[in-house]
Amino acid sequence: MGKTDGPTINAETCTKLLSTNGKSLPTPTASIPQHLIKWQPYKSSKFAVNTVNPIRIFVDALNIQPNPTLKPIKLNLGDPTLLGNLPPPTAAIEAIQETLASHKFDGYGPSIGFLAPRQAVAEKFNHPDAPVTADDVVLTSGCSHALQIAIEAIADEGDNILVPCPGFPLYKTLMCPLGIEDRSYNLILNGKEQLDFAQLEAQIDKKTKAIIINNPSNPAGIVLSEKTLQRILEIANKHKVIIIADEIYGDLVFNGAIFHNIATLTPKVPVIACDGIAKRYMVPGWRLGWLIIHDRYGVLADVRKGILALTTKIVGPCAIMQGALPKILKDTRESYFEEARSIIEKNAQLFYKALSEIPGLTPVKSQGAMYMMIKIDKNMYGDDIEFLKKMISEQSVYCLPGGAFGSPYWFRVVLTYTEELSIEAINRISTFCKTMRNKS
Ligand SMILES: Cc1ncc(COP(=O)(O)O)c(C=O)c1O
Repeated sequence: MGKTDGPTINAETCTKLLSTNGKSLPTPTASIPQHLIKWQPYKSSKFAVNTVNPIRIFVDALNIQPNPTLKPIKLNLGDPTLLGNLPPPTAAIEAIQETLASHKFDGYGPSIGFLAPRQAVAEKFNHPDAPVTADDVVLTSGCSHALQIAIEAIADEGDNILVPCPGFPLYKTLMCPLGIEDRSYNLILNGKEQLDFAQLEAQIDKKTKAIIINNPSNPAGIVLSEKTLQRILEIANKHKVIIIADEIYGDLVFNGAIFHNIATLTPKVPVIACDGIAKRYMVPGWRLGWLIIHDRYGVLADVRKGILALTTKIVGPCAIMQGALPKILKDTRESYFEEARSIIEKNAQLFYKALSEIPGLTPVKSQGAMYMMIKIDKNMYGDDIEFLKKMISEQSVYCLPGGAFGSPYWFRVVLTYTEELSIEAINRISTFCKTMRNKS
């Protein structure tokens, strides 16, 4: 599978999709007649026009009436808080309460973040093969912000950065308005190898500034093996291209998979690791993340300065969240993560078994993050958007089309729902596919 088997998502195609669905920010209608206002409508900046998140567009494209007799099941939203079955750890709630009451974090802090929470991150991620101190840590407003800073600190207009396909569309969203090209390398979802190394290497040229890896992967749910990571590092080392590692789903692995933090596998290749509390502590709305600069040989000294400069734009993330971070990282019990992993693993097994039995659907065995990708036989069911639109109107089940991640003819389900709702969703998907096959 790759980039070539479907339409490219860019500002133009997204705007088209938007206009066909009539969805955009509501515009207030003035009651005063236009000729009396004497103001010309303002144009938004090119930067804003070129800032497009395909996920939003595809969610809007699927904004059609569900079956009124069936309660909607929203397997499209990667927000683990929606059903209340994955609450935040008790330590996290207490940490916020204590920080608020202390009044120690009501003011501005350093733009890279307060020292104590940076130290806590450094302690958690310090490893003999990838030593980290607080000086290597920058706190950010979520992992998205860490990615933004990393990209902006290393690339200019005309440069390019390699991104996985299928992959998290935010990478493109962050690069496109800056004139940085996102070049896809292909993950192989049901193959012997996990990615096409030759194709990845062929994308690299003099303008390539980084390879972004996302491990475990959204949307694929795959966990890159040590061997795969080593081969990526060999290529990165050969071409002297750094790694940006999006490890937001870090330890969220199951079904026997092992997570390898890529920085621990390489003394040579500089790595900027981007992470946060959103998915492992199930608090995406708390908006706290960090980046860690792994740079054993001082290659990124100049980039460090750039990163610091970029943090001054917002003077650090929410201070209360920063104050709470050390306790969240230190006091969350291992049993909390085990429970979360077991819920996701159970759902992964249920979906995989049931969907494998449906003719024309081929699920990928998910081993990490909180998602599963399913391939649709286009001869049986048509394209992903049409398939999902019909599934909403007939069965009120929402999923995200693979097109949103660069892979048309696939769709993604989330695995964080209760077992009961997951089973209900599976049954409805199965009924829907049967009806579709009977019609054709
Ligand atoms: C792969 C990946 N990276 C980054 C993020 C963003 O994380 P945050 O909510 O901390 O900004 C997400 C959120 O869904 C994600 O799936």
